[in-house]
Amino acid sequence: MGALNIVFGVVILIINGWMANGLSMNYYIMTCPIADIIVRNVVQTALQSDPTFAAGLIRMHFHDCFVEGCDGSVLIDSTKSNTAEKDSPVNLSLRGYEIIDAAKRALERQCPGVVSCADIVAMAARDAVFFSGGPLYEIPKGRRDGTRSQIQDTFFNLPGPSLNASGLIAAFGKRGFTAQDMVALSGAHTLGVARCSSFKPRLDAADPTIDTSFAKTLSKTCSSGDDTEQPFDLTRNTFDTNYFSALQRRAGVLFSDQTLFESPATRGLVNMYAFNRAMFNMDFQRAMIKMGLLDVKEGTNGEIRSNCHVIN
Ligand code: HEM
Ligand SMILES: *[C@@H]1O[C@H](CO)[C@@H](O)[C@H](O)[C@H]1NC(C)=O
Ligand SMILES: *[C@@H]1O[C@H](CO)[C@@H](O)[C@H](O)[C@H]1NC(C)=O
Repeated sequence: MGALNIVFGVVILIINGWMANGLSMNYYIMTCPIADIIVRNVVQTALQSDPTFAAGLIRMHFHDCFVEGCDGSVLIDSTKSNTAEKDSPVNLSLRGYEIIDAAKRALERQCPGVVSCADIVAMAARDAVFFSGGPLYEIPKGRRDGTRSQIQDTFFNLPGPSLNASGLIAAFGKRGFTAQDMVALSGAHTLGVARCSSFKPRLDAADPTIDTSFAKTLSKTCSSGDDTEQPFDLTRNTFDTNYFSALQRRAGVLFSDQTLFESPATRGLVNMYAFNRAMFNMDFQRAMIKMGLLDVKEGTNGEIRSNCHVIN
């Protein structure tokens, strides 16, 4: 009887692909079967005209998930009576909102009122990884959109660039991530840039963990102002292991990047990922799927927003 139940359960699991939390790989199979394809096409088109948006989309998913769970709260606009997450100083130059909007418009034409903004953010991040040369992976869907987006929620939930390895391990650990998840996820910095203001404190403090010639590079970037962008690695639009190689050369841009190599707790992981791209890809995709399940709303919680910028 018990065995039969287990067999039955496994069959159901396979048929539906359900995850324990109510999300599933084929969540939209009856209601919007080409949802993934629609998002993928919109993202592909956008990245063909500006590949730097891949970084923006991946980062947006991170910021969405770490504040109030992956519920699209990062997309909400402020109103007269509410300052939203988006307008926090730690929104850290988030980009790619237009791409999410374009995908939402295309989805609403095809299957109105069905696909959540939170799922669009998660799918767009997945596609951005793939189109910049990273792994191709499938993600569970069924996240519902949240109805809260408040500036103060960003202050304690997002780890800052001045954290050392133990601080990062603690910040991610609190949300259920291992040190290995954290290092793999930090590998997202294989894409994109940081602005001078995010690393200037290291120069002011003459941080000894910066290679001397790289310190000159960073100073030169800052000589053009606080908003000047410094790529994290030599290939800012390509998903590769150059970020980890940079850390080995002490050419990490943020303190929170370089500390991963300086700390004995995480150095082995940096060395492994620098050396083994397949391992990085595998751990990264696993950690992204895990991040995409953080405090998701499903069932009767949340809503399907009709405009990603406003609560229904
Ligand atoms: C480990 C803790 C992390 C810290 C302290 C951190 C901090 C930062 C900072 C300060 C910037 C630069 C912002 C600016 O100056 O405009 C940045 C950029 C970025 N972050 Fe992180 N981050 C972390 C983890 C992550 C994770 C988990 C992801 C995604 C999975 C991610 C994806 C990105 C991307 C792609 C960029 C570049 C954005 C662009 O070029 O538009 N970061 N991060
Ligand atoms: C980020 O926040 C600043 C205020 O700190 C605001 O001026 C800016 O428009 C915000 N950026 C985005 C993309 O919302
Ligand atoms: C990491 O940072 C915390 C908090 O700032 C500090 O107490 C701790 O000593 C630091 N750890 C190391 C190894 O530097």
